[in-house]
Amino acid sequence: MRVLVTGGAGFIGSHIVRALASGGHEAVIFDALLPTAHGGAKPWSADGVPGVRTVIADVRDREAVAAALSGVDAVCHQAAMVGLGKDFADAPEYVGCNDLGTAVLLAGMADAGVRDLVMAGSMVVYGEGRYDCPRHGRVRPGPRAVSDLDAGRFEPRCPDCGAELAPGLVTEEAAADPRNVYAATKLAQEHLAASWARATGGRAVSLRYHNVYGPGMPRDTPYAGVASLFRSALARGEAPRVFEDGGQRRDFVHVRDVAAANAVALTALRERRPGTFDAYNTGSGQPHTIGEMARALASAHGGPAPVVTGEYRLGDVRHVTADSRRLRDELGWKPETEFVAGMREFATAALRGGAS
Ligand SMILES: NC(=O)c1ccc[n+]([C@@H]2O[C@H](COP(=O)([O-])OP(=O)(O)OC[C@H]3O[C@@H](n4cnc5c(N)ncnc54)[C@H](O)[C@@H]3O)[C@@H](O)[C@H]2O)c1
Ligand SMILES: [Zn+2]
Repeated sequence: MRVLVTGGAGFIGSHIVRALASGGHEAVIFDALLPTAHGGAKPWSADGVPGVRTVIADVRDREAVAAALSGVDAVCHQAAMVGLGKDFADAPEYVGCNDLGTAVLLAGMADAGVRDLVMAGSMVVYGEGRYDCPRHGRVRPGPRAVSDLDAGRFEPRCPDCGAELAPGLVTEEAAADPRNVYAATKLAQEHLAASWARATGGRAVSLRYHNVYGPGMPRDTPYAGVASLFRSALARGEAPRVFEDGGQRRDFVHVRDVAAANAVALTALRERRPGTFDAYNTGSGQPHTIGEMARALASAHGGPAPVVTGEYRLGDVRHVTADSRRLRDELGWKPETEFVAGMREFATAALRGGAS
């Protein structure tokens, strides 16, 4: 199979390229090497990985996309601006890269007759995860009030009775509820892919990744994930700064497992019905709190213990943990890297970009 991997020079994309190459597939990397993702640092290079070609271009560039799609069997779409960004002024750039970019790519695939797509989705489309009230059952708490956050009340409460809620695992059927610009663009990408599949008889799968971590993760920028911020602090000899009270629950999934999920999904596409789009949660299945993650990293690194600061970011949700059973049951994927071993490796693994 020849696969066009957009964002193939990025954190997850570079692991996908390696996974495809080691599975005997050909990969074409298509990446604009965005400064927000790569800074001044040298991006990951596929030099020496057999069967890999690199195209440096933007997914919004119709001609470059058309040229790169020639002879391609499937597309693995990872290119996107990630993270919360600095402020709302970043919104046009997020929408441009993520949604206009996806539309241009899909239009190019429609023209070229490429019918198979695996795309990077995200758990952020769910907003706050699943909650149960002891009295009202399943509820959907709205965004947390600034006054609550300022007062250190971080747990969302039942919208009906104000009781504390028990967080649960989100399934793919949960209604979407994007809470920030990035989340809105990731949801729009999926809607575009579904429309493309219906219109062209294409087959599309979105892997909704949970918090991905592992070697090659970008260093601390406003766009980086929390594991990378902690890891970078430890590398500077500083304590990881844990926001809220550290009790936020997430699912940390290793980047090699995410790459393997992409390879499995790409191979499974040809057995799927034309005209369909399906989403799969992609997590380890083992929720942990941000505080636990910080402690695991600090102890593996041998650095100072984490400090809980009580700070918060407005677009953040309190808990979100996925039920990834569907991906295991339907596609036979199984995560191999367990939390403690993965964090131990990550504590000393190389990050991408910056000076330290
Ligand atoms: N890292 C995570 O925890 C996580 C979680 C959920 C979803 N995702 C999704 O996974 C995908 C990959 O993310 P990542 O963590 O590897 O980020 P990354 O920033 O390391 O990689 C993204 C790559 O896409 C490229 N890119 C961005 N816009 C582009 C454009 N317009 N044209 C061409 N290339 C462009 C960047 O240069 C970069 O190399 C993204 O779609 C992201 O939304 C990541
Ligand atoms: Zn209630």
